[in-house]
Amino acid sequence: MLVALVLSTAALAAPSTRATPTESGRERLSLDRGWLFHLGDIVAPEVKGHGASYGYGKAGFAWGPAGTTYDDGDWRALSLPHDWAVEGPFDAQENLAQGYRPRGVGWYRRYLRIEPQERGRQFELQFDAIATHATVWVNGILVHRNWSGYNASNINITPYLRYGDEMNTIAVRADAVPMEGWWYEGAGIYRHAWLVKRAPLHIVTDGLHATPRLGQQGQWSIPVAVTLKNGGKAAASALVEVTLRDPSGALVASRRSKVQVPVLAQAEARLLLAIGKPELWSLEHPQLYQVSARVIQNGAAVDEVSLKTGLREMRFDAARGAFLNGQHVKLQGVSIHQDHAGVGVAVPDAIWEYRLRRLKELGANAIRFTHGAPAAEVLDMADRMGFLVMDENRNFNISPDYLQQLEWLVRRDRHHPSVVLWSLFNEEPMQSTEAGYEMTRTMAAAVKTLDATRPVTAAMNGGFFAPYSVAHALDVVGANYQVDAYDKFHQQFPKVPFTSSEDTSAFMTRGVYTTDQRTNVFASYDDDYASWGNSHRDAWEAIARRPFVAGGFVWTGFDYRGEPTPNQWPAVNSVFGIMDLNGFAKNAYYIHQVQWIKEQPLVHIAPHWNWAGREGSDIRVMVMSNGERVALLLNGQKLGEQQVDPYRMNYFMVPYAAGKLEAIAYRGGRPVARTSVETTGPAVRIELVPDREALRGDGRDAMPVTVRAVDAQGRAVPLADAEVHFAVTGAGLSIGHGNGDPTSHEDEKGPTRRLFNGLAQLIVQSFDSSSGELLVEACADGLAPARLVLPVRAVATPPTQPASEAPFNTVNYWRISPSSSRRPDPNLLLADFDMNTWEYGDPPMLHDYQDAAHAGYRIFRASFTPRKKLADGSGVLHFLRLAGRAEIWLDGQLIGRKDDFAPAPLRVVLPAGAGTRQLNVLIEGRQGQTSGIESAVRIEPAQH
Ligand code: GAL
Repeated sequence: MLVALVLSTAALAAPSTRATPTESGRERLSLDRGWLFHLGDIVAPEVKGHGASYGYGKAGFAWGPAGTTYDDGDWRALSLPHDWAVEGPFDAQENLAQGYRPRGVGWYRRYLRIEPQERGRQFELQFDAIATHATVWVNGILVHRNWSGYNASNINITPYLRYGDEMNTIAVRADAVPMEGWWYEGAGIYRHAWLVKRAPLHIVTDGLHATPRLGQQGQWSIPVAVTLKNGGKAAASALVEVTLRDPSGALVASRRSKVQVPVLAQAEARLLLAIGKPELWSLEHPQLYQVSARVIQNGAAVDEVSLKTGLREMRFDAARGAFLNGQHVKLQGVSIHQDHAGVGVAVPDAIWEYRLRRLKELGANAIRFTHGAPAAEVLDMADRMGFLVMDENRNFNISPDYLQQLEWLVRRDRHHPSVVLWSLFNEEPMQSTEAGYEMTRTMAAAVKTLDATRPVTAAMNGGFFAPYSVAHALDVVGANYQVDAYDKFHQQFPKVPFTSSEDTSAFMTRGVYTTDQRTNVFASYDDDYASWGNSHRDAWEAIARRPFVAGGFVWTGFDYRGEPTPNQWPAVNSVFGIMDLNGFAKNAYYIHQVQWIKEQPLVHIAPHWNWAGREGSDIRVMVMSNGERVALLLNGQKLGEQQVDPYRMNYFMVPYAAGKLEAIAYRGGRPVARTSVETTGPAVRIELVPDREALRGDGRDAMPVTVRAVDAQGRAVPLADAEVHFAVTGAGLSIGHGNGDPTSHEDEKGPTRRLFNGLAQLIVQSFDSSSGELLVEACADGLAPARLVLPVRAVATPPTQPASEAPFNTVNYWRISPSSSRRPDPNLLLADFDMNTWEYGDPPMLHDYQDAAHAGYRIFRASFTPRKKLADGSGVLHFLRLAGRAEIWLDGQLIGRKDDFAPAPLRVVLPAGAGTRQLNVLIEGRQGQTSGIESAVRIEPAQH
């Protein structure tokens, strides 16, 4: 057994740095609940005719599912984060790069009720990421487009909102046909969504800029810039107060400044916080300070945001590599994509925490999030856990839209102490051209304007020596592979800091010891790698032996879907990972662990020791240790002892005999670590091993549960491949599973999963506001079943915008006739080409008749399509408030009337009938009284 590394998970589970409700009244509410989803596109009919063409481009008139009146009654209800690609089938005809999963288009809708008393506040709708091209409408108005699946959409929806019973409709069309990568990118709203409510005078999103600086004399300070927006109706003046709390929570600095903000304009307050006794952020002690900014008007706080940051000095030296707080640090990094077993790219925060914990246990100290911005919560974790991050921009493009994506990344992430490098791109063919150089220069300048404290890099895979190399526009040059160029680059550019930005690309399948390309598997001896790459051992040796190379980023930390290089169908996942898609260790894990972890003595053996039928034949045994010497024993007999080779590892050829193979590591002649592998008996029962003791009952917490088969003595059977059936009941559910088999086509959400080389992983999640127990039962043919009871602890639910149901549709887009003193034909037709005789309107549509002579009638005309469920006569037309006497005409028939002039609601039974219905409301008003349709008109179930 590997000597376990003990890490405190409690220490890692600190709250997010993002703002939560404060006394100022600002709220950041989760909008993850209450969504409706439709898989596949809904295509608008061709627009023909004058009236339809005239209305087509008008604000508020969005067609079909983008609009307010669409019948989504049979859409699927779901919660975010959501990735529909991972729910789909594998299909050999689909794109290998995207893991042979259909992507396509999906629609989401959500209703949002905002109370009348909230009028005056400012509302921002936030999507942390949508794959891939997203279009967003609010109340039928196109409000936003985002053409990257790695960037947030922050949308001011205040102007479009309706209050009270006039529900708001959010519609999102996610088009995942376009791709931004050659790896699995998922599809849909796969990160969190939020609704931020704040005061008219408020701090804009990512508008608190606080990046610590180390001065010439060694003193620390934080220049703070706070960007305010005034969304109100009058110019505002306010005090901005910024405070700094040290890692213990003690207030250590505070400053105030006055600001004036004109109407609908922005203004910035700049303040300097000096720090007396700095407590530095480091990998071992990731100490975080909190910076808060409050906006004070008339003595009261009207807005407040906080962020966490850290004091650390990161320097890249061209000759000696990276230094953190003056101490040399080699970047022991991994590149990672963002999908996990069972859940695709919709990875719960808790599973990200698990993934980063696995990387910490591995001994990694650096992460490159390839090839686009990670979720904000993941960077918060990197800050708390102590990682150095290369934060990478997705699109190499300087057109305004794309440059904004880069600027968004820097604004969002510049406070994170973990972020030490901005990466502009990955492997761009234009990296050695004049245009590429100009683009890089422009992007680097855009970054520097927003953050002058960090170096800019790019992951180049060539062009280092070209006259127009983009390397000339970078602070730190990153090389993907190209080991042969390392020395040459350093000789030619001895003053330019250099790092491997990506290396290795070795192939390994967990638990496999013989490479067989016919079955798409690779042995775990680290012998197989891409022609452009290296073995894990060679790649690290090339980096470790060169002081000028700041470090490396192994391709990759975890397997990911897609890019099954060098294989293809039926292989659907990559095999580059140090760990598989579940975070289960391959041997690469132990190779890097003994190379990267220095102090704690470690030793590990591969392979397993179940080789029945191979008795007497040589088995190649690999021993990995960070000791000085290792000895190997079989059934107590010493087979040999070797000097540890820290780069190559140690090998023994051992004639197989069942029993116990043991390795002992020595330092200074004394045994410091030991491990063994044992021949097991046949599997007799399933075992479920939870990753943690309990789940938080907030509907967000999730936990991987290891599923394995054990023999009669409780030893995990390495080659077990039973098909396991799961039943999850109680206070939560299963959200998916995996087994690390790169060729598995099993349904990741279904009730069964086969063990692959002894292991599978089930991911369970608590229900919202739950407590009690979550029960996992697992059974398989011929094996005793397992039962796992996980406590689910009641915790405060995160601030959430309640899901709003709208089992109705609203009648919109009214036309209003001029008033007439004589009763007109209520079914009077309006010519299709007439845009001007009748007004356009939506409630409230009210009129005051000034004198008796002109008092009279108006016709309100609209068409609507009732929801299918209400087309059978079970619906009513519900006028929430109608003023004046009224006749209700539907398709030329009188269906209801209101005989009183006083304002009142009216319900009229909706006669059965499908398709578009024509509604004409004739309203009679009289002098001195307001008349008209005062509030929404809904088509709803009679029972509502
Ligand atoms: C690199 C690329 C990665 C991945 C890798 C596979 O060139 O940057 O995204 O494709 O190759 O070896």
